[in-house]
Amino acid sequence: MKITFSNPAAVKTGVVVVGVNEGRKLSDSAAALDKESGGILSRAIKASTFKGKTGQSLTVMAPGGTRLDQVFLVGLGVAKELTAKEALKAGGKTYAALATAGASAITVCMDTQEGSALSAADAAAEFAFGALLRSYRFDKYRTQEKAEDKPTLKAIKIQCPGSAKAKTAFAAKDQVAAGVFLTRDLVSEPPNILYPESLARRTKELVKLGIKVEVLTEPQMKKLGMGALLGVGQGSIRESRMVVMQWNGAPKGKGGKTDAPIAFVGKGVTFDTGGISLKPAAGMEDMKWDMGGSAVVIGLMKALAGRKAKTNVVGVVGLVENMPGGNAQRPSDIVTAMDGQTIEVLNTDAEGRLVLADALHYTNKRFKPKFMVNLATLTGAIIVALGDEHAGLFSNDDQLSERLTAAGISVGEKVWRLPLNEAYNELLKSDAADMKNIGGRGAGSITAAQFLQRFVGKTPWAHLDIAGVTWSAKDAPTVPKGGTAFGVRLLNQLVADNYEK
Ligand code: BES
Ligand code: MN
Ligand code: ZN
Repeated sequence: MKITFSNPAAVKTGVVVVGVNEGRKLSDSAAALDKESGGILSRAIKASTFKGKTGQSLTVMAPGGTRLDQVFLVGLGVAKELTAKEALKAGGKTYAALATAGASAITVCMDTQEGSALSAADAAAEFAFGALLRSYRFDKYRTQEKAEDKPTLKAIKIQCPGSAKAKTAFAAKDQVAAGVFLTRDLVSEPPNILYPESLARRTKELVKLGIKVEVLTEPQMKKLGMGALLGVGQGSIRESRMVVMQWNGAPKGKGGKTDAPIAFVGKGVTFDTGGISLKPAAGMEDMKWDMGGSAVVIGLMKALAGRKAKTNVVGVVGLVENMPGGNAQRPSDIVTAMDGQTIEVLNTDAEGRLVLADALHYTNKRFKPKFMVNLATLTGAIIVALGDEHAGLFSNDDQLSERLTAAGISVGEKVWRLPLNEAYNELLKSDAADMKNIGGRGAGSITAAQFLQRFVGKTPWAHLDIAGVTWSAKDAPTVPKGGTAFGVRLLNQLVADNYEK
């Protein structure tokens, strides 16, 4: 998608998008076109149920008196209440409505929203970002798609007062979109193509952005004592990997001292069959996106480096394939994690926590980060609890929780905090080892989080259980169905709001 910004000028031809506020209030651009067409736009509005509410739109084809092919009226709600989130959604919905309509380019007129804290330039940048996010497609394996089923829309020209400001604001968002698209690409890839080694290889594309990328192989992980992670991968013919990515964007402190980094850790199970505790066949294909946490960390690193975030960040992903096989781990195996704790593996399908145990400890020990946030498609139970509206949030730190919650609300990737409590530890007691890898029937997401907490020491930490939000069966305004990349924009916002000062 080619997105450009310019200052307001009369639009005479093609497809034009103009805003209408709630109560059928025409924006200046809409009013000008209405006048030119001899009142056709207001007549069309009057004849419809279009009120100018957010989420509404109305198409007027070839209005008489003009040479325009189409005027697309987009509802922007009450002008003074227009937020970044609403402008973003309007952009996404506009893209979806016009993507396959025939035009290869459209012009969008974004006028000043009277009384809104959002300038026209910022609204324009958000609108463009929303359209871009919605334009994502994973079509590399479609060889027979008909031309009429493919999007025709290739270019969006946005006019707004202060267009230079809009262009600058959009440039950073464009980098975030690149991170989101990388995450969606990785999550969408089938597991015969994307497995630990190939996923690790894909992270090398980040090197050209200035990110340092290290890949740990099985012998290296063995030497480090990562028995929990390696146990999960041992049933697969694909070797396990761990990838460590570093972005050092913080200005050097006094005496060239480097600031402690913030750390993001991802579960990267490139396919989760359940292992010997095999999953049922129905729906098992979903387990191709069990590497969603790692994909978010990788996409986030790309976004942060792409926009040159002024902070030091490490991203660590544990990559394994969970397969049954002659060498697979068995229920009742006891493994020793890198930090020395022993784990009785009573269900080989509770593998994510085993991968994260070593990834979290390694990250904490090596980098002594300011905080760690891990992301994982960890439990089916979080889907029962929260569905696909919120990711589950677990944390040992109130400030970090509050910051994550606020960032989530502002970008529309919402998280909901659930409890951690010493009392749940009872459920993880093993007769044979320091702990077992499953709790009981109840509180499945909490016992999983409680398990992870044992590997983070005293470091401020948050765990996002993204099992319910990583993949979507239906289109949303800025997220086409499929991989959502939930977490990339959330954590980018967390960093931008709190850790770049
Ligand atoms: N990857 C799954 C969790 C999952 C389920 C993610 C559905 C997305 C959609 C995880 O590894 C798993 O299998 N968890 C088990 C844990 C149980 C064995 C304690 C689960 O949730 O059933
Ligand atoms: Mn599993
Ligand atoms: Zn899993």
